[in-house]
Amino acid sequence: MAAVEFLLNGKRHRVDDVPPTTTVLDWLRGHARLTGTKEGCAEGDCGACTIAIGREIDGTRQYQAVNSCLMMLPQIARCAVLTVEGLAAPNGALHPVQQAMIDTDATQCGFCTPGFVMAMFAFHQGCERVEDRIIHEALAGNLCRCTGYRSIVEACRQAARAPRIDAENGDAAGALAALPVCSAYGAGEQVFLRPGSLAALFAAMAEIPDALLLGGGTDLGLRVSKDRERIAAVISLATVAELQRINVAADALELGGGVTYTQALPHIDRHFPAFGALFRRIGSRQIRNLGTIAGNLATASPIGDTIPCLIALAATVTLASASGERAMGVESFITGYRKTALRPGEVIAAVRIPLLAQDTRFSTYKLSKRFDQDISTVVAAFQLERRNGQVHQLRAAFGGMAERVMRAKNVEAAVTGRPWTIDTLTNIDVALARDFNPMTDHRGGAAYRLRAAANLLRRFAWETSSQAPVRVEAL
Ligand SMILES: Cc1cc2nc3c(=O)[nH]c(=O)nc-3n(C[C@H](O)[C@H](O)[C@H](O)COP(=O)(O)OP(=O)(O)OC[C@H]3O[C@@H](n4cnc5c(N)ncnc54)[C@H](O)[C@@H]3O)c2cc1C
Ligand code: FES
Ligand code: FES
Repeated sequence: MAAVEFLLNGKRHRVDDVPPTTTVLDWLRGHARLTGTKEGCAEGDCGACTIAIGREIDGTRQYQAVNSCLMMLPQIARCAVLTVEGLAAPNGALHPVQQAMIDTDATQCGFCTPGFVMAMFAFHQGCERVEDRIIHEALAGNLCRCTGYRSIVEACRQAARAPRIDAENGDAAGALAALPVCSAYGAGEQVFLRPGSLAALFAAMAEIPDALLLGGGTDLGLRVSKDRERIAAVISLATVAELQRINVAADALELGGGVTYTQALPHIDRHFPAFGALFRRIGSRQIRNLGTIAGNLATASPIGDTIPCLIALAATVTLASASGERAMGVESFITGYRKTALRPGEVIAAVRIPLLAQDTRFSTYKLSKRFDQDISTVVAAFQLERRNGQVHQLRAAFGGMAERVMRAKNVEAAVTGRPWTIDTLTNIDVALARDFNPMTDHRGGAAYRLRAAANLLRRFAWETSSQAPVRVEAL
């Protein structure tokens, strides 16, 4: 089996002797002895392990911040990996983001600092607009327990004024393409396969039926980083060419089963702006740079953020196997608590989201204890079609209200054929209580969830009816 080859801080590396489920973080610290990258939570929450991964896209090297604690080593094959040790120039001159951290006194104990520096580096390389909103979003995946964020945000702002510079020294230029393709890596009893096509994927699945399919690994990775599981066989979907496609047709947006949140975001923003706003609250940039919508669907969590939106938007999934394809609504795909209609040998090949018709309105709302990087207490998504001022159809889907994401069928029936006004929703709580009997947990009580869900529908009505000329956020 092939070795995993990649560039690390500009120098070519070849690894053929560690278990494939070794996390990138453990390899960096334990094998490469690059201990600048820290382990805080080992579950993607704190950002201390942030590194930058570079890939050639349209002829230029583009970097993304990722959580190295969630990545298995073969995931970085043919990538340019940058750690905090690789940012300074050969003459020792600090990278602008490092210098800005010093200039603005943005560090105290320093434990979080390498992670912040790498998140800022990715932001800086992306040449994004320097707005507080965007800076906050770029840094939302990093926690600091002692300095406070004001000076860190100022460091990011200051660094952004410096021109983008190529951080990688040594033999980095053009060297990525020269690295060999690693389609299979193994050590001991464990294997990690990286098929390049659907045909190769199905062949691998037939050969090792118990192998776990890996999207971005932001759910599955926890089994390695937290539970220290030694998974026998993993098949990555990230290299399957057919799963990386994004197709914008006249009537629908189709996202391949390996498309990450970050890749999908510009298209989602364009066609479903409220869904785009929700995307930005799924984990952090580090999570969204790896995680996929298909992974969110396959996990079938009752609080999976994309699921209510996809159900409200009447999205469908294409399920593919060696024997062909079948399509079904996302609503039917989710069959129970963390259960789906996926059969052995099948993958989610694509998610198809119909574009909104002219008279249709869509919005979605996420309630969580913390705005950034938090799991939902309740997620609501609504698609409304009106005819002659009356509700022709409402699709109202909720997460966090039952053992799986579900539509509120009694609510939908109660408003159909009636005027779309706040008054119509006066007694909507009664219908909602017939739809859901939510649980009480540390995120919220049953009564709170019911009240909040009803009020989110009222908010949608307020924002979409002629009674409200402004969005509620603007008040
Ligand atoms: C710190 C942190 C924050 C998070 N925040 C949020 C949040 O705010 N909202 C939210 O909804 N989720 C959140 N998540 C969960 C996770 O990021 C999402 O569910 C993500 O979409 C999973 O996608 P993935 O590609 O990383 O899945 P993976 O971890 O790779 O896989 C998850 C499951 O899906 C299966 N799978 C993946 N792709 C396919 C496919 N194409 N076909 C068939 N099966 C497939 C895998 O076999 C596995 O069983 C968070 C996770 C972390 C670690
Ligand atoms: S160690 Fe906390 S995000 Fe990786
Ligand atoms: S400087 Fe101590 S955690 Fe941020």
